Amino acid sequence: MELENIVPWGRNLTEYVAMFLLTSDNLNSKILGCGDGPASFNTEVDLHDGKVVSVDPLYAYSKQEIMQRIDDVTEEVMEQVVKNKEDFVWHSITSTGMLYEMRIEAMTEFLIDYNEGKEEGRYVTAELPNLPFKEKEFDLALSSHFLFLYSEQLDETFHIVSLIEMLRVAKEVRVFPLVNLKGERSPHVDGVRKALENLGYETSIVKTGYEFQKGANEMLKVTTTL
Ligand SMILES: C[S@@+](CC[C@H](N)C(=O)[O-])C[C@H]1O[C@@H](n2cnc3c(N)ncnc32)[C@H](O)[C@@H]1O
Repeated sequence: MELENIVPWGRNLTEYVAMFLLTSDNLNSKILGCGDGPASFNTEVDLHDGKVVSVDPLYAYSKQEIMQRIDDVTEEVMEQVVKNKEDFVWHSITSTGMLYEMRIEAMTEFLIDYNEGKEEGRYVTAELPNLPFKEKEFDLALSSHFLFLYSEQLDETFHIVSLIEMLRVAKEVRVFPLVNLKGERSPHVDGVRKALENLGYETSIVKTGYEFQKGANEMLKVTTTL
C-alpha cells in the first residue's frame, strides 16, 4: 500500500481498554493488533511487560517517512473533526484541543518505540486478509478502526475472509467500531455474523465503554473452539 493512501492516526492504551473492554488477564495474554498503525497501544502494553504484535502496511515505511506523513495529514484530519464536530461525543475527550494533544502524544510514543519494536518483532509489515502467523499463535486478535469503519471501500467478502484469517491465528477476535466513516451501522455486520456462525464460530455484539464517534459504542466479539 502506498504511503500517500494511508492516513496515520493513533489511539492510546486507555482507549483500547475502553473500546475492547480489555481486562488485566487480556492484557497479560498474547494479543495481535490488526491495523494498529501509529497507535501507542503496543508500546504502552510493552512498558507494562505485556506482549502485543501489531500488523499494518504502514510498517513498510521508515520512522522518518511515517513522521513526515503524520505531519502532512494532521492539519487536514483536525480540520475535518472541527467541521464535523457534531458527529462526535465530547464527554471523555472534551475538546478538539484535547483530541489533538492525545493523538499527537500517542503517535509520538509510537514513533519513539518504532525501531526497537520492529527489531523485537512487535511491528510487522502485513495486511489483512493475510497474516504471517501460525494457527492459534495469539489469545486475542483486535481490529480498532479498520474493519467495518471502511465498509464503503472494503466489501463483505473482504471482511469475512479477514475475520476467518484472524480466527485462524487467534482464539478470540474483537472488532470496534461497527459503524462506517459516516457513523452509520456497517451494512456488513449482519452478513459477516451469519457467515461466521455458519462456520461454527460464536458471535456477539457487546456494548463497550467507549464512544467518541457518535453511535460507535459496540464491538463484535467472535470466539472459536474450532
Ligand atoms: C484509522 S487507522 C486505525 C489505527 C489504530 N488501530 C487506532 O485505532 O488508533 C487504520 C489503519 O489500518 C491500516 N490498514 C489499511 N489497510 C490494512 C489492511 N489490509 N490490513 C491491516 N491494516 C490495514 C492503515 O494503515 C491504518 O494504520
